[in-house]
Amino acid sequence: MIEGKLVRLRAFEADDLDASHAFVNDYETLREMLSGIPYPSSMSDEREWLSRQSCVTRGEYQFAVEDGEGYLVGRCGVTRLDWKNRLGELGIMVGAPYRGRGYGTEAMALLCAFCFEELNLHKLRVSVLAFNRPALRCYEANGFVREGLLRDEVWRKGAWQDVVLLSKTAP
Ligand SMILES: CC(C)(COP(=O)(O)OP(=O)(O)OC[C@H]1O[C@@H](n2cnc3c(N)ncnc32)[C@H](O)[C@@H]1OP(=O)(O)O)[C@@H](O)C(=O)NCCC(=O)NCCS
Repeated sequence: MIEGKLVRLRAFEADDLDASHAFVNDYETLREMLSGIPYPSSMSDEREWLSRQSCVTRGEYQFAVEDGEGYLVGRCGVTRLDWKNRLGELGIMVGAPYRGRGYGTEAMALLCAFCFEELNLHKLRVSVLAFNRPALRCYEANGFVREGLLRDEVWRKGAWQDVVLLSKTAP
């Protein structure tokens, strides 16, 4: 629906379930992501998450990311919307087999455009584990700037990890 050169952002469909479930059960992927504890999710957990991503739900806006051949390659979205201050928090995941092809960087550009041009947000925030260089590159390539460093914020991979805060304001 939101078209880029490499990817499009669209709604989740019921037949995304298998691929989506595989993405979020990749242990290395989970260990790169800030939220929660890296822990497997069942097919029914994933079905339930997908069923909540509806255009009639206004709490957050999650997109399926599809490549030029129509394969589901990941997801991205904006959550924790603060309408008074026009703030939103972004997240993105590209499945392991599809990384390094520019999909994440373009999906992030499309998501930022949606947030500014359609939601009228003023500021977009992301929090990234400091060791996650691909994610930092993906955000910085899209004009996010570093705002701060939370030292020893998260216990991950058997050690305390720093978290980098980045943001981007409306053009
Ligand atoms: C972060 C992420 C979305 C990037 O998606 P992607 O489609 O691979 O991104 P791109 O192909 O646009 O590449 C972005 C940068 O990551 C780098 N990169 C991609 N795959 C990489 C890999 N396996 N190892 C090292 N760097 C990699 C690219 O080289 C690029 O950096 P560059 O501009 O310096 O060349 C993806 O790696 C991912 O989903 N990771 C796991 C989940 C995650 O970390 N989400 C973000 C949490 S804040």
